[in-house]
Order: sequence, then C-alpha cells, then structure tokens
Amino acid sequence: MRHFITLFDLTREELLHLLAMAERLKRQQGRGKRRRELAGKVVALIFEKPSLRTRVSFESAVAQLGGATIFLSGPEVGLGTREAIPDCARTLSQFCDAVILRTFAHSTVETFAEHASVPVINGLTDTHHPCQAISDLFTMQEQFGELRGRTVVFVGDGNNVARSLAVGCGMLGMRFVLAAPKGYGFEPDYSNLLRQRFPEGSFELNGSPTEAVRHADVIYTDVWTSMGQEAEKDTRCQAFRGFQVNRELLEHAPDHAVVMHCLPAHRGEEITSEVLDGQRSIAFQQAGNRLHAQKALLDWLLNQSHRSLRR
Ligand code: CP
Ligand code: NVA
Repeated sequence: MRHFITLFDLTREELLHLLAMAERLKRQQGRGKRRRELAGKVVALIFEKPSLRTRVSFESAVAQLGGATIFLSGPEVGLGTREAIPDCARTLSQFCDAVILRTFAHSTVETFAEHASVPVINGLTDTHHPCQAISDLFTMQEQFGELRGRTVVFVGDGNNVARSLAVGCGMLGMRFVLAAPKGYGFEPDYSNLLRQRFPEGSFELNGSPTEAVRHADVIYTDVWTSMGQEAEKDTRCQAFRGFQVNRELLEHAPDHAVVMHCLPAHRGEEITSEVLDGQRSIAFQQAGNRLHAQKALLDWLLNQSHRSLRR
C-alpha cells in the first residue's frame, strides 16, 4: 500500500508511467470509452481549504472510473481539534478505499498517512501540491513531447506549487529556474535536497524575471498570496512588484515559450488578463488535465502500485 504525499514518493519510472497512463486515459475518454477501475470503491475527501479544480477533478475522476466519493469540509471533521488525527485516519480507513486531504500543515497529511491503512493523497498543503505537478508535467509533455533538457521558469513565490513542480522537473532531467524576490525563494535546505536527489536536473534562483525567462520553454506563475497567507497580502504585493507575468516580460522570452498557471489566478497581480487569456497561455488546458492525471494516479495507487514498479 502506497501513499502520495509528495512527488519524492515516486521513482522516475513511476512518474513516467503515470504520465503515459494519463495520456492514454485522456485519449480514450475522447473516444467515449467507459471505464470501471474504481467500481465499488469509495474515496473520501477532507478539505480544510477551498478548492475548485482539485475537488471537482478528483470527484469527477472517481465517478468516471465507476467509484463514489464523500466530501467532508475541514471544520466538519476537525482534524486534530474535534478528534485526534490518528483516530480519524484509523476510523476512516475502514469505510473508504482512499482518502484525499487538503490541509494547512503538511504534518497533518503525514500524520494521517502514518495511521491510515488505505492510500492517502495530498490534495495540497502549505508546502506541497504534488497532484498539480504531475498534471503540469503531463501538460508540458503534450506541448513539447520529450521533457529532458527543457527549461521551466517559475516567476513568483517559491510556494507549494513551485516546490512540487521543482521535484518533478528534477526527476525528468529538466532545468527549473525560480525567479523570486529576495526572501521568497526556496529554503537553502530544500534547494540542497533537490540538487542532491536529482543530479541530472538543474536548479537556479534568479532575482531578475527578464533575465530568467530568456531561455524559457515554460513560464509558470502562481498567486503571490497563497491560502492561509491573507494577512501578508499587502507586504507580498509590495515584494512581488516587478514579478508580474505580462506582455513586457514575454518580450524577453523565446517565441515558443508557453505560459502556465495552476489557477485560481489573481488577475492583475501575478499575471495580466491579456497574458492569461492570450495565445501563449495553456492554463486552461492545464486545468482540464487535472482530471486525466488524477485518474491515472487513482488507478495506479488503488489497483497497481502494489504489484508493479515496486521500489
Ligand atoms: N490548482 C488548484 O489546485 O486549484 P483549486 O485550489 O481550485 O483546487
Ligand atoms: N499556492 C496556491 C495554490 C492554489 C492551488 C495556494 O496554496 O493558495
């Protein structure tokens, strides 16, 4: 039984397997093929934070694979407040075949997984968003084919989305450049970990967005103020001034470079509407791909991970 808490939980071969599965599932859905991989299975979602894409893409993915979901809001469950996290994990494991968690503290998901006897999936924490990263790599693969040697420039906050994407890029031998203002990059320990784990990847921090995007294949951005950081909004907007993805920035990038955003976007802050809705943006294709990538993840975790590609 395996959990999916961060992208570090996968080997490179497993990640490539998931990307190939996502591609096949998307193609088959386009042809109207019906699937039953999760028939009779129940997946619970416990979300402490709001969500559109993660919740709906997972609920649709499970339904389209023949299973059922139960959605519980964070306050309703009270992980660590109404009930101890291990007690909740041990109980829920007897009712459900998998649990997807979206929490503030990353340790909540880790503790839950430690005590669960069914697969636990991280649907975003303060420090990681691995489902987003798998889906984003799938979208990049659709765009470019082979990803080895490609350059992703993340302009903005070294946040949960950036951290997870950097792992995926490293695993696939890509270059990951973080263009962040001072104080908003990765912690040195995290950068060291990435370099140590993925010697074939390349990780850079660059304080100048215009310089950073010069060799970009992908320009990626996300909100400057993530969920839970609302009190810092003014300070952050100040710090990130000059890090907006806009038409002027794109003029410094190669013509073929595409723009990605995990969404939701704060239009007019980290990205202009002109760019988000423009020809170089693949953000909505990217959003749609959450469905296919997560179907692959669910089928693999619930049906295949214990019998194939075992580490
Ligand atoms: N990208 C993403 O995870 O979106 P939601 O917060 O709407 O789930
Ligand atoms: N960094 C954002 C991602 C939302 C999908 C947040 O955590 O709010």
